[in-house]
Amino acid sequence: MRTVRLAASILASNLGQLEEEVKRIEAAQVDAIHIDVMDGHFVPYFAFGADTVQAVRKITRLPVEVHLMIQQPDRYARAFVEAGADLLIVHLEAYHDPRRTIARIQEMGCRCSLAINPMTLVENTYSLLKKVDQLLCMSVNPGFMGQPFIIEVLEKVRIARAYRDKNHLHFDISIDGGVTDETIGPCVTAGANQVVVGGPLFIPKEAKEAAHLLRARANEVGAGG
Ligand code: DX5
Ligand code: ZN
Repeated sequence: MRTVRLAASILASNLGQLEEEVKRIEAAQVDAIHIDVMDGHFVPYFAFGADTVQAVRKITRLPVEVHLMIQQPDRYARAFVEAGADLLIVHLEAYHDPRRTIARIQEMGCRCSLAINPMTLVENTYSLLKKVDQLLCMSVNPGFMGQPFIIEVLEKVRIARAYRDKNHLHFDISIDGGVTDETIGPCVTAGANQVVVGGPLFIPKEAKEAAHLLRARANEVGAGG
């Protein structure tokens, strides 16, 4: 059976106790830590920088993925790679040349994911999908945690999955925003093999149980690989 990876978004954690929070979520056996970076331009809010990535890198052995919700991600990519990111997520909609940014990131030995906002057509990514390690479909408008899942995004995931399989490509498909024990099943059915989860993993006291429930719901529909 195919398995779904869970990436835990620390935006939803108690930042006053970052080390304990990362350890707690690690004990829940998630597959990666997801760090949201916001610049107040690409999205209307601010969050995290390379120093946070470096701090998390020291705490955990889990893969660290960094979601750059910023303009000109090419300018800042090196700082995040040097801080210890294993995967950098850059937006198609940001101000940069995505093809060059992806190449630069990969030349530095880091994996690269291309993200698209809910309103962006997946067809706009086709010419880049041969190059990327992951396609990330935002299922909320980026910038804030705790928003409701935009169900229409699932159709894009289906299209991306069909395109990937038809062309024998290998990129992962991740969904970010509003993923809960109710929406994870449909994500997997549509073809995602990773989901990013914030609130539902960090807010309950029992992160282990929350992760277990998410996996159980994903497995019910036969997770995507
Ligand atoms: C949204 C961020 C997400 C967010 C997910 O802009 O990119 O990673 O933290 O949070 P939840 O899972 O609570 O929607
Ligand atoms: Zn994110």
